[in-house]
Amino acid sequence: MEFIIDILVLLKNITVAFLVSWIHFFVPPRRKCVRGEIVLVTGAASGMGCDMILEFSKLGAITVAWDVNSQGLEETKQLVTAIGGKYYSFVCDVSDREQVKKVADQVRSQVGDVSILVNNAGVVAGKKLLELTDEEIERTMGVNLMAQIWTTKEFLPSMLENNHGHIVNMGSSAGLVGLSHLVDYSTSKFGVTGFTQTLNYELHFSGHDGVATTLICPSFVKTGMFAGCKMEYPLILPDLEQRPTVECIMQAILTNQTEIYLPRMVYTMVSLKHVIPVAAMHEIIQFFRAHKFMEPFLGRTSIKDSPVNTEE
Ligand SMILES: NC(=O)c1ccc[n+]([C@@H]2O[C@H](COP(=O)([O-])OP(=O)(O)OC[C@H]3O[C@@H](n4cnc5c(N)ncnc54)[C@H](O)[C@@H]3O)[C@@H](O)[C@H]2O)c1
Repeated sequence: MEFIIDILVLLKNITVAFLVSWIHFFVPPRRKCVRGEIVLVTGAASGMGCDMILEFSKLGAITVAWDVNSQGLEETKQLVTAIGGKYYSFVCDVSDREQVKKVADQVRSQVGDVSILVNNAGVVAGKKLLELTDEEIERTMGVNLMAQIWTTKEFLPSMLENNHGHIVNMGSSAGLVGLSHLVDYSTSKFGVTGFTQTLNYELHFSGHDGVATTLICPSFVKTGMFAGCKMEYPLILPDLEQRPTVECIMQAILTNQTEIYLPRMVYTMVSLKHVIPVAAMHEIIQFFRAHKFMEPFLGRTSIKDSPVNTEE
């Protein structure tokens, strides 16, 4: 009897969850206020990280930018100060655990407790598995995945103490459906998916309802990271422009959305992957020429790591 009651309660709760989710689809929840919040964005010297720093600044947040690229951090600073934002930047290689600890201490003493952490830094090598050096593989895993764990370990405790905070992790559609030439990248991003989903469950079941998590999984965004690549059939799976993508990401963060896949077609790809035979998935990949997506990859010029320092 107890089992039947448990099942009925479960069904009721699942129905409520579906209803709330559908209502939110048509009537988005109100955006939260981030004025005065301390927002740390890693990989903020360029691309989407820089844009997110700017968006948070416009909303009155105190922004903290981390990157290995000190020149890029300076450029982000100029953009933020031009709109009157409060900005701190720190050179930090997020794949280096000891550096993360050291620079996190500096942030706490110079700025305060971070309440929104955006793990955005990422790298891509763009080679097939057997062409990759061991160092390249370690770098991809270190920057794209392990760094998110190190930074979260640093900044989550104060969020839990205050029952107030948000961990935002940049994944990728390649962390939901793998892509050829991206074995290391996809593996690291699948790790981000697992890390973020599991962290969400852990926080939920520990009763910390004031600490949110958001997993962001865009497909190809024209930031320069995947320079040279382009999608076949853009009408079905369009290349994403940087600004509108960041706007969607900001909307997801400000409404505490747990996961966002961009464009919407990615939801279909993920669902299909779980219900169709692998051979059928091969056909879909071939249709989109997704197995050839990385062939024209030109790659980012490597950025020399700068020594750890701080600047306001
Ligand atoms: N561009 C895309 O198509 C795309 C698609 C899906 C996901 N993403 C993800 O979005 C995030 C941002 O990418 P983007 O497209 O804006 O590219 P980007 O190259 O402009 O930004 C990445 C930033 O990370 C920084 N970085 C690299 N290694 C670092 C390290 N060790 N420590 C600190 N900072 C480091 C870089 O200097 C750079 O500023 C990445 O995580 C990327 O994997 C990008």
